[in-house]
Amino acid sequence: MAMHTRRATLALTGAAALAACTRTAQNRSDNAAPDPGDSPGRFVSPNGPEVAAVERLRTTNGTVREVRLTAVEGPVELGGGRSVRTWTYGGELPGTEIRLTAGDTLAASVVNHLPDTTSAHWHGLALRNDMDGVPDLTQAPIAPGGEFAYRFAVDRPGTYWFHPHTGVQVDRGLYAPLIVEDPREPLSYDREWTVVLDDWLDGVDGSTPDAVMAELMGGPATHPSRMLGQRPRSVLLGRGEPGHVDYPLYLVNGRTADDPSVFTAKPGDRIRIRFINAGGDTAFRVALGGHRMTVTHTDGEPVQPAETDALLLGMGERYDVLVTAGDGVFPLTALAEGKGPTALAVLRTSPMGAAPAAGTRPAELDGALVTADLMRAADSVRPADRAPDRTIRLTLTGSMRQHDWAFDRQPYDHHHSTPHAVRKGERVRLEFANHTGMWHPVHLHGHTFSQPGGGARKDTAIILPGRKLTVDLDADNPGLWMLHCHNIYHSEGGMMTVLGYASD
Ligand code: C2O
Ligand code: CU
Repeated sequence: MAMHTRRATLALTGAAALAACTRTAQNRSDNAAPDPGDSPGRFVSPNGPEVAAVERLRTTNGTVREVRLTAVEGPVELGGGRSVRTWTYGGELPGTEIRLTAGDTLAASVVNHLPDTTSAHWHGLALRNDMDGVPDLTQAPIAPGGEFAYRFAVDRPGTYWFHPHTGVQVDRGLYAPLIVEDPREPLSYDREWTVVLDDWLDGVDGSTPDAVMAELMGGPATHPSRMLGQRPRSVLLGRGEPGHVDYPLYLVNGRTADDPSVFTAKPGDRIRIRFINAGGDTAFRVALGGHRMTVTHTDGEPVQPAETDALLLGMGERYDVLVTAGDGVFPLTALAEGKGPTALAVLRTSPMGAAPAAGTRPAELDGALVTADLMRAADSVRPADRAPDRTIRLTLTGSMRQHDWAFDRQPYDHHHSTPHAVRKGERVRLEFANHTGMWHPVHLHGHTFSQPGGGARKDTAIILPGRKLTVDLDADNPGLWMLHCHNIYHSEGGMMTVLGYASD
């Protein structure tokens, strides 16, 4: 598989530099992680003693859940008899959900049968840094034919997911839900429905995410161009655009709208829906026809319950909602925000009634929309009020024309970027200013953050064009943590940086 991007070249350089680390990275017996930047020793190492000390403090129940994930290339059926060749975990799309109970230890062996290096990142989990799955930062890349044994304590319930942190692989089929149940679940419901949203182009008419990245970086359009033309901006929001890639397909749980996945329940059932946006370059607006939703969580963390008709999910974001199922057949529609097409799944509680048409747009899509910035953390997870000990200001820069996405005009480079230093125990304030004409779902690894004064705790937050966002976090998880836009083409274009814990 030819890789054309500047980023991919850097990753290969990094892999060569790390060749000596590969063996030790696999048995984790000693210091296998690279030193960041040009200041060896200034930062806590991903597998240093500080990381192990915090891992020992995580509450575990003695259960070890063993999972084997095989990353493979092969055909996948998307519905309507449409089959594509792509990369998945075990030939499934989405990959088989991993379900744990808070307190479990996850032992996940990732076996790489791809023609490229890979990695697995556990999006949203506050885990030990050397298991975070960022090649060249927290581990060596997993070579083709190689294997990596992830093992870490999972001590917070919630809706998470996992995907590679290598190149644009997340825009193939390498993703799956990771659900952590609460042994003392405070909500009561009858059923659970995990709803994974995705934008799809891999294997359609010769398209690949790598070719799209090359086209964005100024290379010639290969096969069909996948860039959106000058379509009108999102009239619904007037908020700029979340993405520019024109995907031929949009999927819910791996299915196209003409042959959707169907969730069957009984009228009156209380259903907990867990929404996950696994898209590469698409924000989704979701609504369930005939139902209002009660939002209970975002990014795995409980919020003060909020009623809404629709939700807007940036790439990487999750929402949990409760609905009381009506009697009939109902469309769950996901609109590709600012692009126009819709994806579909179906809730069926009655044997009677025709399936909704592929392009069904329930009225709720245009109804009340509660956005994350309006949500409040549940009292149980609200951080204590505290003045920040340190403020880090980050400007989001770049333009579609140049594809020079970055923080502070400095595209991320594993070898030369210096982490932003924080210290364990600090309350850290991040002040983002978006100086671009697009919106960016910004994601921080290993932590949650919230707007000061009791905002919802999140790990991924949308920052609209021309706007600012201020969030606080508690620096309680030592290591080197990626902070990046979750538009995969923006992050690979350079909109990434690292928060690094200073070593004392
Ligand atoms: Cu969903 Cu840096 O990741
Ligand atoms: Cu972005």
